[in-house]
Amino acid sequence: MTEGILTTAYIAASILFILALGGLSHQETARRGNLYGIIGMAIALVATIGGAQVTSYATLGVCMAVGAVVGIFVASRVQMTQMPELVAILHSFVGLAAVLVGFASYLDPAAHAPETALQGVEKTIHEVEIYLGVLIGAVTFTGSVIAFGKLSARISSKPLALPARHWLNLGLGLVCLGLGFGFVGAEGHSGLLPLILMTLIAFAFGVHMVMAIGGADMPVVISMLNSYSGWAAAATGFMLSNDLLIVTGALVGSSGAILSYIMCRAMNRKFLAVIAGGFGTAGGTAAAGDDQGEVIAISAEETGELLKDAQRVIIVPGYGMAVAQAQHVINDITKKLRDVGVEVRFAIHPVAGRMPGHMNVLLAEAKVPYDIVMEMDEINEDFPETDAVLVIGANDIVNPSAQTDPNSPIAGMPVLEVWKAKTVVVMKRSMATGYAGVQNPLFFEDNTRMLFGDAKASVDAILVNT
Ligand code: TAP
Repeated sequence: MTEGILTTAYIAASILFILALGGLSHQETARRGNLYGIIGMAIALVATIGGAQVTSYATLGVCMAVGAVVGIFVASRVQMTQMPELVAILHSFVGLAAVLVGFASYLDPAAHAPETALQGVEKTIHEVEIYLGVLIGAVTFTGSVIAFGKLSARISSKPLALPARHWLNLGLGLVCLGLGFGFVGAEGHSGLLPLILMTLIAFAFGVHMVMAIGGADMPVVISMLNSYSGWAAAATGFMLSNDLLIVTGALVGSSGAILSYIMCRAMNRKFLAVIAGGFGTAGGTAAAGDDQGEVIAISAEETGELLKDAQRVIIVPGYGMAVAQAQHVINDITKKLRDVGVEVRFAIHPVAGRMPGHMNVLLAEAKVPYDIVMEMDEINEDFPETDAVLVIGANDIVNPSAQTDPNSPIAGMPVLEVWKAKTVVVMKRSMATGYAGVQNPLFFEDNTRMLFGDAKASVDAILVNT
């Protein structure tokens, strides 16, 4: 493939990636956005394989075949509720790739980018690229592995609060900076030792950074690691002198950073404070299992009657809806209610479920009309004029203690103010807490009714009675 064709293909792929991101910002255009992304990636792969830098087709073929088989196997088996942990582990691969490319690029520069037989300033710039790439990659790698562990409940979601952890972080950062001076400009391969030491420290930093973050703040960590993986890919692009990788990495890095900002705003957190960790360390006044009084149970039949008699209904989906896969029946109930003139809308909290947009994806899959799916800011003021709220498998996102208990791990997080409605029906299996591990005073309110059981079984029974 000539240099001209390669450049054209790379530009086409970059444009398609930008269109993909644009498409993914709205539900109506998300499928098209995905398609652009797939086509862009296909073009990028073909162009890169056909480029002059690739010579060993046999090795590449074997690696791609193994990767494709593993990818197809994992992707076809993963449940929708396991998507966040899959995304986290995929981020870790990007980080690890950046570390490996960095070391390879340092040990054998000519094999990766011929122009790295560089001197003077250009050599220094290349070494800085390697150092930063390995640093970001190493933090992304271990941070994402820990995020995978927390999201899949292999590791406790409770924050690890080491004494003087901020000083520890600062100390690790300063040591990395010092090692950087030892690495850049070192003769021969004498920079290898500082590079290895920095990598080990960055691995430890990644572990500590994510271990220190409490369950309720995980959304910010996910988007932050998404951003880091982009910057790690961009750094790899610099190391390999691959323009497309630089552009793609920068797109992922900056869109992840914007997402982190949005998540921080949604959680009412300061970005730096979340990264520094320790949020969620307070036990709160309503810890798991606390007895806060009696709850009032309701049957599916009564819930059906309540919904039919209502004029305005708001449905609040949460993680439990994803677990139960109840979205299709919820759509059937919605249709039935709308047919008899009940106004039904959905209220989506920005961190409902376990990944950004989790609920929107499920509702779109069930073909719930987009125009009745509202974001928290659009609908939160409407609860006082609402007759019935159906909370389906949601907990933290409707927890009033976020507003009333300054010691709560979720203190300050904006929540859906469902308790202001006339009646609230909460569907869940038990009195267990949500992801943040705090009890929910909503369940004990006078206007709350608890519909216990698996959400799918409950909505099936409600459907019969609406
Ligand atoms: P959660 O607070 O996790 O509550 C989900 C509730 O669903 C649980 O209390 C559980 O109670 C119930 N449930 C589980 N399976 C069920 C089933 N089959 N049928 C009925 N109920 C079921 O969820 P949420 O309200 O959506 O809040 C999300 C939480 O996750 C927040 O703390 C958020 O910070 C965190 N988080 C979010 C993200 C993103 S980006 N969205 C990422 C990581 C973490 P039972 O066990 O009693 O049934």
